[in-house]
Amino acid sequence: ARAEKVKIGQLEAHRGSRVRVFGWVHRLRVQSQMTFITLRDGTGYLQLVLAGDLVKTLDAFDLVTECTIEVTGDLKQVPEGKTAPGGHELVADWWRMIGKAPTGVDAYASLFNEKSDLSVRQNLRHLDLRAETPAAIMKVRAAVLSAFRAVYSKHTVMEVTPPCIVQTSVEGGASLFKFNYYGQEAYLTQSSQLYLETCLPSLGDVFCVQESFRAENSHTRRHLAEYTHLEAELAFIDFKDLMDHIETMICEVVDMVLADPIAGKLVQELNPGFKAPARPFKRLDYKDAIAFLNEHDILFQDDDPAVPPRPHQIGDDIAEAAERKMTDMLNVPIFLMNFPKHLKSFYMKKIEGDEEFTESVDVLMPNVGEIVGGSMRISDIDELMEGYKREGIPSDPYYWFTDQRKYGTSEHGGYGLGVERFLAWLTNRWTVRECQLYGRWPGHAAP
Ligand code: 4AD
Ligand code: MG
Repeated sequence: ARAEKVKIGQLEAHRGSRVRVFGWVHRLRVQSQMTFITLRDGTGYLQLVLAGDLVKTLDAFDLVTECTIEVTGDLKQVPEGKTAPGGHELVADWWRMIGKAPTGVDAYASLFNEKSDLSVRQNLRHLDLRAETPAAIMKVRAAVLSAFRAVYSKHTVMEVTPPCIVQTSVEGGASLFKFNYYGQEAYLTQSSQLYLETCLPSLGDVFCVQESFRAENSHTRRHLAEYTHLEAELAFIDFKDLMDHIETMICEVVDMVLADPIAGKLVQELNPGFKAPARPFKRLDYKDAIAFLNEHDILFQDDDPAVPPRPHQIGDDIAEAAERKMTDMLNVPIFLMNFPKHLKSFYMKKIEGDEEFTESVDVLMPNVGEIVGGSMRISDIDELMEGYKREGIPSDPYYWFTDQRKYGTSEHGGYGLGVERFLAWLTNRWTVRECQLYGRWPGHAAP
């Protein structure tokens, strides 16, 4: 009988049988009597053992890493004292070349290694993705996205798909990518928040997973020009409900990913010793954060490098470097709350009795800093009109957003989570650039 065709990730159930597998040669170890191949098909890695006459045929076909092959053989448990992925190996009795790969200077193994300049790997991202660490990060990324979807569904938050092409700004004009849209000005969305808000009256609580775009020229470890933005909006809640919800989402998603047999193991390989964060998260008022920075001599640095650093004052923006130092010192997830109104967008609700500050919250994680930004929203139409005026925003293009306050308003709030930043925290990456399939940052859009 013809051996059954099986994906590597599904081989467990076929132990002791003759099977047929397809894949890419991931590693090749040649010994005098025997050749060991690690085969890769995306679902897993499999050790192949080739012995006898089969070994001679390999050289004849120039078998090198990244060739694609088909192999049949008996799937056996690995002998006592030896290890192999999945605990089994395929003792081959037949193979065939499907697609050759270059040898010599163009050989995959010659293109880059651990010591190569990062830009070499970035420009060869399509090939770098075949390496184990990039693939592991992408597998964790997929598990994170499906966990978010599962947890939202459990909490009856519905998924919607807002547009990328928009004519309103959410987070200020400075970071908008503008383009000509049939003779009109349009932008790539910075955030789907405003659209999510308009969904509340018809669909209830909603979320989306959408690409957001930021034209800021920030060459940092955590800024991208395009990133995957996970946003949610909830009706009839207060500020405490919002934070409880964010905490629940993060913790339940982390639990689900860690419990997944494949993704959970990959997280431990990428980030050894990682544990789900303890609840409740630390809650830190903006004003107390300013005091913390000053107690620890973390200074405020003006945008103009000629201005000497000075202690922080209430009203100062907490810059990335200062935020990161503080987060790493505290070394736990933090809800940083109640930012000054002038640092935040027009839509944010002010604190009753402390009107210079807002019901806003960032989640800060060790090693990354801000991974979530959220707030309660202005629900009163007059207050919203004032907000536009204060920020110098013409209200006309926002008529649809304003209408949400006109036709049955509600207290509501929401947040956006940067998926790459979440992953950089979960998998302990140096930069968010490693956490995108194909990275998009200032000056880089290929491949
Ligand atoms: O703090 P931000 O700008 O907030 C908003 O866009 C809100 N409208 C979201 C909402 O309430 N629905 O962005 C939210 C998150 C940040 O915390 C960060 O994780 C991520 O998006 N983010 C970026 N990630 C990578 N590169 C960038 N340039 C990012 N800008 C924001
Ligand atoms: Mg923010």
